[in-house]
Amino acid sequence: MKKQTVLVTGAASGIGRACARKLLDEEHDVVALDLKQEALAAALPEDFGHLLRFAGDVSRHECCTGAIAAAIARFGKLDAVTHWAAMHSDIGHD
Ligand SMILES: NC(=O)c1ccc[n+]([C@@H]2O[C@H](COP(=O)([O-])OP(=O)(O)OC[C@H]3O[C@@H](n4cnc5c(N)ncnc54)[C@H](O)[C@@H]3O)[C@@H](O)[C@H]2O)c1
Repeated sequence: MKKQTVLVTGAASGIGRACARKLLDEEHDVVALDLKQEALAAALPEDFGHLLRFAGDVSRHECCTGAIAAAIARFGKLDAVTHWAAMHSDIGHD
């Protein structure tokens, strides 16, 4: 796949972290976004040239526009978003 710039939300944990790592392993540019700044640094500690960590709350408009602006400022473009940031809910399960 041609090199992409991808915004990964929920990147400090679980599926988001796994997506961010896979993309970084393949040398894509990644903006890793999560509420938890320290957890984000711990989850993706390496100083990848392809990685930009971005702490924020995706429910806030300024966080989303800020992450997009940061992607463009750092990498010149944004090609895709993988959205995993959320709180797991057990509603509907016994
Ligand atoms: N893991 C599963 O088997 C599974 C199955 C079905 C659906 N899902 C859904 O997929 C999503 C990710 O699952 P996971 O297991 O990776 O969860 P996870 O709890 O491991 O990771 C979610 C990440 O999102 C971050 N986050 C939460 N709210 C945020 C916000 N408002 N702004 C920014 N970051 C925020 C958390 O800090 C956390 O790091 C969840 O919505 C979950 O409900 C997961």
